[in-house]
Amino acid sequence: MDSIYLVGFMGSGKSSVAEEVEKQLNLPLFDTDQIIEEKTNKKITEIFAEDGEAVFRDLETAVLKDLPSTDAIISTGGGIVERQENQKFLKEQLCVIFLDASWETITKRLSNDTNRPIWLNKDRDKQKLLESRKPIYKSVATLILKTDNKEPDELASEIITHI
Ligand code: S3P
Repeated sequence: MDSIYLVGFMGSGKSSVAEEVEKQLNLPLFDTDQIIEEKTNKKITEIFAEDGEAVFRDLETAVLKDLPSTDAIISTGGGIVERQENQKFLKEQLCVIFLDASWETITKRLSNDTNRPIWLNKDRDKQKLLESRKPIYKSVATLILKTDNKEPDELASEIITHI
């Protein structure tokens, strides 16, 4: 089976849906953010603050390419599509799911978040960022799932039906 890549904005539910797919399919789960934190022994907020976003994007790009392209579930960071080479890579994969959450859902889910440097950055217009990334997520996806008002297990079942 080709690996299942989950893409979408911060707070769209990638991690919780990935965990449900993992449970239901009993396949290994890889989370690019988590791998980066393990590799660097730093929190993502620390990488952004100490090394800058470009270093984080380099790490993320390297991690993506290293993951198994078969028999795995891969939850990607919301900014994975910031690099064109990652867009190209994802377009070559056969199972890329875009979890499409509305701005309202995202703001509700992330209201108390302290782990996402871009979300916490007051100088960045996150709603604009969502709008600019949406067409890119769509362009790399083989399946688009609206996630508003849906539980992770329901979404996981929809993904499993698709594959
Ligand atoms: C980011 C999303 C985060 C994480 C980092 C940058 C982004 O991942 O990779 O904070 O640029 O949208 P999640 O989508 O898992 O929150």
